[in-house]
Amino acid sequence: MPLTVDDVIARCQAAVREATPALAVRDALRELVADPSSLERALGPVEEGGIAPLHRAEDLTVLRVAWTPGMALNPHDHRMWAVIGMYGGQEDNAFYRRHAEHGLEQVGGRELPVGDVLVMGDDIIHSVANSRREFAVALHVYGGDFFDAARSEWDWGTYEERPRDLDRTRRLFDEANARWRAG
Ligand SMILES: [Fe+2]
Repeated sequence: MPLTVDDVIARCQAAVREATPALAVRDALRELVADPSSLERALGPVEEGGIAPLHRAEDLTVLRVAWTPGMALNPHDHRMWAVIGMYGGQEDNAFYRRHAEHGLEQVGGRELPVGDVLVMGDDIIHSVANSRREFAVALHVYGGDFFDAARSEWDWGTYEERPRDLDRTRRLFDEANARWRAG
């Protein structure tokens, strides 16, 4: 039986019921991204960058996120655990901590190639970039309702904190897609 979107969601739902949900989701995603072509077939081709919701509930959100080549998303938090499983291209993650004078300071980063899984605790602040000439495609799983939670984002230039604005994020994707199509 080929893998389906429902299988992916069912595995995440089962993991969330375990005693350590984030770690159980990590293990589920490790299995899934070990076979990237099955995931690609199940979730469909990526034609442009964007956030595709696969499942949304109070305790679990599952997204397919495709980062357009050349795109970067400014620092933000989630206020819930999150697990990223890469199955196409590469995400470059940078991590930050709050800084009394400068708003934020960068404290490292991690490149995520295909097959890698990243677990983030609920207080993580990160930014994401796709510096390659192909889409960076991943399953993003969150321990809550990703679209409903109050969160923060920080300006790239000033590191000033403001409420997370998902419409702004969608515009970033639109602009990046237009640039990529224009070559
Ligand atoms: Fe994020």
